[in-house]
Amino acid sequence: MGNEWKISEVISCDVLILGAGGAGLRCAAEILEKRLGCRVIAVTKVSHPQKSHTSTAQGGLAAVDPKDPVDKPIYHMFDTWKGSDCMADQNVVKRIVEAGWEEILWLENRGMHFSRDVDGKLARRTFGGHTLNFGETSAYRAVFEADRTGKGIMDTLWGEVIKRGISFIHQSMATELLFNGDRCVGAVVFSPKSGKFTAIRAKATVLAMGGCGQVFKITTNCRQNTGDHLALAVETGLPVMDPEAVQFHPTGIVGPGILASETLRSVGGILRNKDLEAFMERYAPKMKELAPRDLVARAIETEIREGRGILNPSHGIEHVWIDLRHLPEHVHKTQIPEVASFFKKFVNVDTRTELCPIRPSNHYHMGGIPTNEDGQVLKGPNDRVSGLFAIGECACASFHGFNRLGTNSLLELITMGRFAAQKAMEDLDQELPPLPPDAGSRTFEKFSSYFAGHSKVTVGSLRERMKAVMTEKVGVFRNEQGIKEAISLLEELKEEAQKCGLRSRDLLMNQELVERWELDNLLTSAMLIAQGALHRRESRGGHFREDFPERRSEFDRHTLVYMEQFGKVRIDWKPVDMTLYEEGGPYAEKFGMIERKY
Ligand code: FUM
Repeated sequence: MGNEWKISEVISCDVLILGAGGAGLRCAAEILEKRLGCRVIAVTKVSHPQKSHTSTAQGGLAAVDPKDPVDKPIYHMFDTWKGSDCMADQNVVKRIVEAGWEEILWLENRGMHFSRDVDGKLARRTFGGHTLNFGETSAYRAVFEADRTGKGIMDTLWGEVIKRGISFIHQSMATELLFNGDRCVGAVVFSPKSGKFTAIRAKATVLAMGGCGQVFKITTNCRQNTGDHLALAVETGLPVMDPEAVQFHPTGIVGPGILASETLRSVGGILRNKDLEAFMERYAPKMKELAPRDLVARAIETEIREGRGILNPSHGIEHVWIDLRHLPEHVHKTQIPEVASFFKKFVNVDTRTELCPIRPSNHYHMGGIPTNEDGQVLKGPNDRVSGLFAIGECACASFHGFNRLGTNSLLELITMGRFAAQKAMEDLDQELPPLPPDAGSRTFEKFSSYFAGHSKVTVGSLRERMKAVMTEKVGVFRNEQGIKEAISLLEELKEEAQKCGLRSRDLLMNQELVERWELDNLLTSAMLIAQGALHRRESRGGHFREDFPERRSEFDRHTLVYMEQFGKVRIDWKPVDMTLYEEGGPYAEKFGMIERKY
């Protein structure tokens, strides 16, 4: 039976949200709360919004209560700036930090079950790089719901949007952004369950599609995080900002790479090598285990490289330990119950009595689709795309610069979700322009090419080769030769992918077809990361070049990578916003190009 290359249905709405994780649902909740009767459609790749990657977030959400007697928003701004290795955009840092506490109250007022302290107040924990008084001592500024904070946020948001009449399209993928002239007017969505393509017209389209962690072999990211947003962006001619800025979380459970929350170190967990030495003392004498993630991840990898790791005989992966044995029973029970259960389930380790094996695991993409502080997508350094927004991990506003502090991502996604909603609502009274006459043509060309190949190479095997090379050559440590090797292998894999034969040539319920499309998106994401890494000949936050181990002032700027054709890139640059420094005032010098020692 032949496939039908046509748009089966056209649906219209006010706001189309591609992705239904924390950022997307916060945006939807704001619009539905403020504009009664507004038609919001959210498209999710997964079977239910609760399966979104936000649900896996464990540790907490950083925000300073303006009435706090010791903590201050300016300290949080400083920590974010220093943590970012002087690459966060300061206008965005200021806006998000100042809006943080309102968001905590918003969630609490809508029923989120934040953990409480003995006085019944919101409990708080510290995370790496969060300090008081510009680095003096650790700040306790992350509120949390045990070690399942993301789940708490998703439960709350889901209740809000359902109650106010959102429409979900489940298990469907956005394959093409649609434009009328320069204005984004919606997207094409493919639903494998029906085998049909739908065009969705919208006055505002919001990309909230998560990250691209599946590019790497070991990752804390969910299966659906295949960088689909990066492919959508570059195919449309948009740039990706700072793709080389990738975060490796220091403590992935060795083997599967599942997140073992930084909470473990916040409550007193100690990293130990094979001699049981508490080695962080040598790398970050002051902050030790609570130094920022890029630094701790490199310290662990260095221990392993220098022969002080432990080889696990069952899967042959080297690791170090996190020691939690000295923590009181109530900490295991009330602060880290989920992570403790993961260690038991996945590696059969009892956190109360045994050392826990961990190794860095890819965790977060600081790079993404460039936006301004309202989440409006930028096509050049200052040139915005009308009708198109990006928020959450898929975007790069750049709140995190080149290294995100733990608990700052949940803060970013809820605040940016709200800001984008507020901006999008300004245009909802406009007429909705028609769809372009060729809507779907790019999707059909691509999908039909997937059925043209005949080679016996499987999609899965190409994906594994990509993951291996990205982890080995464009991972925690990078150098020119390794990156170039990765780029040439990615080119080879792209060619092989084009010849790949699929077992079924049907659009209906064809999982291999979905994986073939994801493979294209993964290869695009990998190529963007590698190209960004090649061009940034310095070390900065999570991007560490062994051949250029220092930060270099000529790279005090964001990378913009354009790639309309696979592997053919154009690089541009965007200045880092220095608002806090330039505004002057008593703390201005804290926001210059400061030294980064912990
Ligand atoms: O370690 C964690 O719980 C992760 C938190 C985060 O990435 O913000």
